[in-house]
Amino acid sequence: MLSISVKEFLFWKKKQLSKGGDHQSFNFLLNCIGGFSNSDITLLRINPESNLYIKKNLDYLESIWEDHLFNHKPIQYLCGLTFWRDLKLKVTDKVLIPRPETELIIDIVLDIFRNESQKIIFAELGTGSGAISIALALAYPLWYGIATDIDQDALEIANSNYINSSKQSNLKFCCGHWWTPVENFKGKIDLAISNPPYIPKNTYEKLPKEVKNFEPKIALIGGEDGLQHIREIIQKAPIYLKEKGWLILENHFDQGEKVKELFIKNKFKSVEIVNDLSGVGRFTIGRYK
Ligand SMILES: C[S@@+](CC[C@H](N)C(=O)[O-])C[C@H]1O[C@@H](n2cnc3c(N)ncnc32)[C@H](O)[C@@H]1O
Repeated sequence: MLSISVKEFLFWKKKQLSKGGDHQSFNFLLNCIGGFSNSDITLLRINPESNLYIKKNLDYLESIWEDHLFNHKPIQYLCGLTFWRDLKLKVTDKVLIPRPETELIIDIVLDIFRNESQKIIFAELGTGSGAISIALALAYPLWYGIATDIDQDALEIANSNYINSSKQSNLKFCCGHWWTPVENFKGKIDLAISNPPYIPKNTYEKLPKEVKNFEPKIALIGGEDGLQHIREIIQKAPIYLKEKGWLILENHFDQGEKVKELFIKNKFKSVEIVNDLSGVGRFTIGRYK
């Protein structure tokens, strides 16, 4: 730990924020790499004559902040971690940074499956950092989950996030194209979840640099209309889901109605579009027969 005066720190902080960026990202950096929290800083304002202890020197923190500001690199990749629901997850440029709106998928599941003593099998297709599967495995210790991804590097990160978040062993990680890793579970899956790549190709080209230059392309593009992967997942779902099994998908802000039609065309019942917290039809859910 390094010791610096509070006055020096506050002067330095003001200078960094004058270069741009938002307070939330800056505090994230201070917290993750500097080793102190917002409440530490508030307390320091009360006692400006004291000293504080930081894990890394100010020049080092400044170089990271400038990498974020001037190269548009997401602060989560620079810090190597993110917070999602109550999880602290390692992230690298091999995985999408799990988004706050996706957190609602867990609430949808909690709402459907209220009986925690029920033993079910769930599969998450395209797990990335493992956020969704880990949250479910922790919320339902009796469930057995299979988290899949096409990218082995992503699965290694997801696996290490699981080991770091839990002492449980009710989640397995398997590599492969959408349903392929769950070949042995045909007709046995009670719940399948996916936040697949759904950005239409043309929209991808216009994404902000923070996303386009750093997040994995394979996690974002969903073909010409954005629905390529969603279509495949829905069409094959009846082979893998149990009778009355649930499928929960995240989709792009304007795809809800089209995804709902695909569910219905493939004989799903109780099909519903669920809004995210900003009122966007972000999720589509349905039950197979
Ligand atoms: C939008 S990201 C979602 C990641 C994570 N579930 C989340 O919500 O943050 C989509 C994920 O699907 C994976 N993926 C892309 N194509 C795939 C395929 N053909 N089969 C399986 N997974 C795929 C990507 O590697 C990526 O991790």
